Amino acid sequence: MAFRWIVNAGLIAIPIGSTLGVLFGIDASRHAAGQAPLFSPPDDGTGSGGSGSGSGSGGSGGSGGGNIPPDSTGGGHGGSHSNDTELGVTVSTYCSLTYGILPPAKGGLNYSLNPNQWGVLAQDGPDAPSGLCMNVTTFNNQTYPTKTSAPEWTVTWKYDMGPETQPVHAYPNIQVLDGLPVTLSDVKAVNFDMAWIYNLGNETKPTSDTPEFDSISLNTNVAIDMFFDGNETNASNSSLAAYEIMVWFAHYGNAAQAIGNSSGIVERKIINQTEFDLYHGSHIIDGKTQNVFTWVASENIESFYGDISPLITELTSKTGTEYPKESDYMGSFGFGTEAYSANQFVTFHVPRLEVNIQT
Ligand SMILES: *[C@@H]1O[C@H](CO)[C@@H](O)[C@H](O)[C@H]1NC(C)=O
Ligand SMILES: *[C@@H]1O[C@H](CO)[C@@H](O)[C@H](O)[C@H]1NC(C)=O
Ligand SMILES: *[C@@H]1O[C@H](CO)[C@@H](O)[C@H](O)[C@H]1NC(C)=O
Ligand SMILES: *[C@@H]1O[C@H](CO)[C@@H](O)[C@H](O)[C@H]1NC(C)=O
Ligand SMILES: *[C@@H]1O[C@H](CO)[C@@H](O)[C@H](O)[C@H]1NC(C)=O
Ligand SMILES: *[C@@H]1O[C@H](CO)[C@@H](O)[C@H](O)[C@H]1NC(C)=O
Ligand SMILES: *[C@@H]1O[C@H](CO)[C@@H](O)[C@H](O)[C@H]1NC(C)=O
Ligand SMILES: *[C@@H]1O[C@H](CO)[C@@H](O)[C@H](O)[C@H]1NC(C)=O
Ligand SMILES: *[C@@H]1O[C@H](CO)[C@@H](O)[C@H](O)[C@H]1NC(C)=O
Ligand SMILES: *[C@@H]1O[C@H](CO)[C@@H](O)[C@H](O)[C@H]1NC(C)=O
Repeated sequence: MAFRWIVNAGLIAIPIGSTLGVLFGIDASRHAAGQAPLFSPPDDGTGSGGSGSGSGSGGSGGSGGGNIPPDSTGGGHGGSHSNDTELGVTVSTYCSLTYGILPPAKGGLNYSLNPNQWGVLAQDGPDAPSGLCMNVTTFNNQTYPTKTSAPEWTVTWKYDMGPETQPVHAYPNIQVLDGLPVTLSDVKAVNFDMAWIYNLGNETKPTSDTPEFDSISLNTNVAIDMFFDGNETNASNSSLAAYEIMVWFAHYGNAAQAIGNSSGIVERKIINQTEFDLYHGSHIIDGKTQNVFTWVASENIESFYGDISPLITELTSKTGTEYPKESDYMGSFGFGTEAYSANQFVTFHVPRLEVNIQT
């Protein structure tokens, strides 16, 4: 009983799932730096995850950690791998709750890939079975097409609908590891290039199964998640940052609602022919208010190329403590899908992704 109560208190503290999005990515960087992970991965990288509380204040630290061997997968001994030496690629599968994957990129931008099933911890306890597996395709030569190309990845997931206070189970994502935090006044462009496909089943398909999403009650979005703060350290911590800016490229199902949806659209901005509508709201994490800005593409789009920095400067140009300032730091940048619920397995595939934050 007591355990149940504590869990529920945690849920109330974090009503919407976006904020913890990149917490585990940060955990992954700690891991790479040889620090003890905040959430310890299981020894074999499969099965249940660490002992995170999912309450927004971070999990209880695990023991262990240490360096990940520098193979092309960046996954250490977590997950299973199939190595196609002829094609020079390795596909690694991770079904752990939170384990961060850090594929090395020789001379290029480093990314971490994070299954990030924090909502599962919160809802079903630390030993909940994983409802999600992530595949990452790494190049054995650790050299990607451009300096900012990310490895291709997929996630296959299925979750039952959660309570209204905690609808999101996971935010599997890819996170930029280098060059952050950065002062916003130094940012000249945030070039973002991506394509994704969402389909039913456990395999990838050439196109999305959009017409069938309603029939399987798919609730999800596809979104960038960024955090900002006047303090460099706090900007990188999703529960301490004063501001969160999300960019939603698509959303499906009634559960996937932007914070501030009920107040309606407060602003519009067009980036390379895509109209983004702004919603603004806030939530309280650990007693601190976090202002949340969500730019939502007015129509769902499955690929995008453009400089999204105007979506940030539009906000820094306004006055008021609810808006980030030019002197604030961008502490983290992630892209992924918020997995709310679906009554069949679905696969999200990101064949192309490049983030180029120019200073
Ligand atoms: C973020 O801040 C919280 C509250 O101070 C702390 O418990 C947590 O460990 C921090 N997370 C990271 C990744 O540093
Ligand atoms: C894949 O196999 C090749 C040849 O056996 C080996 O050199 C390489 O390190 C392997 N890569 C991974 C990521 O296991
Ligand atoms: C690295 O490996 C990939 C996948 O095999 C290949 O397409 C690419 O040409 C290689 N790059 C270099 C510089 O060898
Ligand atoms: C990526 O990580 C490697 C190893 O830590 C580092 O040498 C390299 O400078 C990083 N890349 C960038 C763009 O910072
Ligand atoms: C689909 O994948 C999940 C894990 O990602 C697995 O639990 C499930 O059994 C798979 N379903 C089928 C039909 O293969
Ligand atoms: C992920 O990898 C596993 C193991 O190789 C494979 O069975 C599964 O089909 C892959 N999933 C996708 C979406 O490619
Ligand atoms: C950063 O977070 C700490 C809590 O860890 C808080 O005490 C401090 O006031 C925050 N700094 C700023 C500038 O908000
Ligand atoms: C930022 O906040 C941390 C605590 O979270 C504090 O140690 C540090 O001194 C602060 N930095 C500045 C410049 O205020
Ligand atoms: C806002 O809420 C309405 C209905 O309440 C829903 O149809 C719409 O998709 C929501 N949009 C966002 C961006 O949350
Ligand atoms: C706009 O998008 C198209 C295709 O997606 C791309 O080729 C073009 O370079 C983009 N333009 C700008 C200014 O980003």
